[in-house]
Amino acid sequence: MRKMVLAAAAIAALALVGGASAQSPIVIKFSHVVASDTPKGKAAEKFKELAEKYADGKVKVEVYPNSTLYKDKEELEALQLGAVQMLAPSNSKFGPIGVREFEVFDLPYILPDLATLRKVTDGPLGTRLLKLLEPKGMTGLAYWDNGFKQMTANRKLIAPSDYKGMKFRIQSSKVIEAQFRTLGAIPQVMAFSEVYQALQTGVVDGQENTWSNIYTQKMHEVQKYATVTNHGYIGYVVVANKKFWEGMPPDIRAACEKALKEATEYGNGQSARENDDALADIKKSGKTEILNLTQEQDAAMRKAMMPVYKEVASRVGQPLIDEFLKETGRSPMN
Ligand code: LMR
Repeated sequence: MRKMVLAAAAIAALALVGGASAQSPIVIKFSHVVASDTPKGKAAEKFKELAEKYADGKVKVEVYPNSTLYKDKEELEALQLGAVQMLAPSNSKFGPIGVREFEVFDLPYILPDLATLRKVTDGPLGTRLLKLLEPKGMTGLAYWDNGFKQMTANRKLIAPSDYKGMKFRIQSSKVIEAQFRTLGAIPQVMAFSEVYQALQTGVVDGQENTWSNIYTQKMHEVQKYATVTNHGYIGYVVVANKKFWEGMPPDIRAACEKALKEATEYGNGQSARENDDALADIKKSGKTEILNLTQEQDAAMRKAMMPVYKEVASRVGQPLIDEFLKETGRSPMN
């Protein structure tokens, strides 16, 4: 039934491209799962503002934040069917639709900072990864940042042994699943929109996310502790339905591409600050104790998670992992 609804919406959406005129702008539905007041939410709003301006009224971008249209998994299905035209799912969410290569971004400690990330996303590997989306009916357009993940729970998470037996909500990534299993924890895949309630009711004991997501979802209100681990990265791939994108009149597509380029610069230019601000707000709320690791404790966490690299090598691809590390020029151990 849901498929039928999606298909009907898709037909209506594709008809709009063909029928665009000065009176009826092309509508781009841009769906996402986070709050408007986050790096992704703000970049999406900036894209809307600029695309509508550059296309001179011939495009209308409707941004749907907070899973108002679709949750994590449905979102990609809806894009493939053309029920929405644009999304920005996290890298982790492409594994389940068969593009496992994006899970390389989920490897623990693979990126030390955003400047290093940029070497990959702006380089040949970043371009090649985007091309992998085409056979799935998607056009990969840009990489948007969120930032680095932290751990939260009602227990103090300091040493690897503290994770034993704890249930953690995860995104649908086999690499993240391996990460928690390696720590002796129990990972549970769950849609982003359901995390707050799952933490509140104790369905899961903890979770990992960026400061901006933790704060805007109020997770800090239902978690006693947050440990500054920066152990992984969350970023997004901006994708469009391929048929839709290629079917737009060239001048309108060019306007959207220009808007997206500028929205990407804007969003990526301030994502780090937004996460810093969210951390400051969490501290100010006094609802969660922020725990910092010593250098030795950080080294112990890195060491404990290193077996993940071997474990997922056949899934993600060892040559891809090697190429990624070569481009960053860094080792996940420091
Ligand atoms: C999550 O599911 O935790 C994140 O991917 C949400 C997001 O889009 O930042």
